[in-house]
Amino acid sequence: MDNIAGVKARILGQVADAADESALETLRVAAVGKKGEVSLMMRGLGKMTPEEKQVAGPALNALKNEINSALAARKSALGDAALNERLRSEWLDVTQPARPAQNGTIHPISQVTEEITAIFADLGYGVAEGPQIENDFYNFDALNIPPEHPARQEFDTFYMHRADGDNRPPHVLRTHTSPVQIRHMEKHGVPCRIIAPGRVYRSDYDNTHTPMFHQVEGLAIDTDISMANLKWTLEEFCRAFFEVDFVELKFRASHFPFTEPSAEVDIRCSWKGGQLKIGEGDDWMEILGSGMVHPKVLEAAGVDATQYQGFAFGMGIDRLAMLKYGIPDLRAFFDSDLRWLRHYGFASLDMPNMRGGISG
Ligand code: PHE
Repeated sequence: MDNIAGVKARILGQVADAADESALETLRVAAVGKKGEVSLMMRGLGKMTPEEKQVAGPALNALKNEINSALAARKSALGDAALNERLRSEWLDVTQPARPAQNGTIHPISQVTEEITAIFADLGYGVAEGPQIENDFYNFDALNIPPEHPARQEFDTFYMHRADGDNRPPHVLRTHTSPVQIRHMEKHGVPCRIIAPGRVYRSDYDNTHTPMFHQVEGLAIDTDISMANLKWTLEEFCRAFFEVDFVELKFRASHFPFTEPSAEVDIRCSWKGGQLKIGEGDDWMEILGSGMVHPKVLEAAGVDATQYQGFAFGMGIDRLAMLKYGIPDLRAFFDSDLRWLRHYGFASLDMPNMRGGISG
């Protein structure tokens, strides 16, 4: 059995030296595989005398077992070493501060639109939309502004280009959100309570005017709506929007072809030292136009004006944003200056804050 001891010493030595799992596998096949060295030795048992067999059999079995467990032990040692090496090389410092991530901000216009929508949702208003490229029927005629009406000039309208000989009705960039009144009533009828926020366009440019700006239209039509409801709604809105118990509003008699009577609303503010502040000072900023919807407008939208009446208003979203967040120049809203956007923008999880709430 010297032979067995020698084979054992050699193979166990080789197993101990195996550098990786594939070397180990080669050794396993050569030793205890079907045609391996030990397996062949076991086959030799058949030619032995029973006495020889009694000694060699258990010895060979023991040898096979020892080799198998040496292989398993070496295999797990190699595995541990590989894991340790991975842990060492893939080490991660979880205490390291994260790299600053580039976060965008919510534009004040988007923020304020959300705030307005939330307040009117509390008052039972849905949201309607209409196209920014309008035909002159919806932008003007249906709103009681016939072609020769001077209000058409006042609007500084952008007309869409028409090739010579193209005599389709003129299209314009809508000058206000009021056409959505008509589209909504035409499609959904009355009674209704909606707001319609969106972009509008007029050829105008200074620190409170840009050629593209934003309005939110309001429309409430029913059988029993009066100017008093309009006034309450607007006051309540301003209180909730500006988060104050009291806002000073001036209802100024005015004229719009599509409302009768009409009122424009100004809000008290001050512009001292490049700062715009609401609720103090001797300046007034116009924030909206409003009035009782003209019967002709209701008729143009297919509504029976002997049965129904109601109010409408159009507010400047941009101006509300300027006032609420103290932003003095409207033009900067649309310059895409990252410094401005980071300064005046909102984090994505900022919720419209409604400390004022709606009473009544
Ligand atoms: N459409 C008007 C404007 O743009 C505002 C307005 C809307 C006035 C609704 C009265 C009623 O100036």
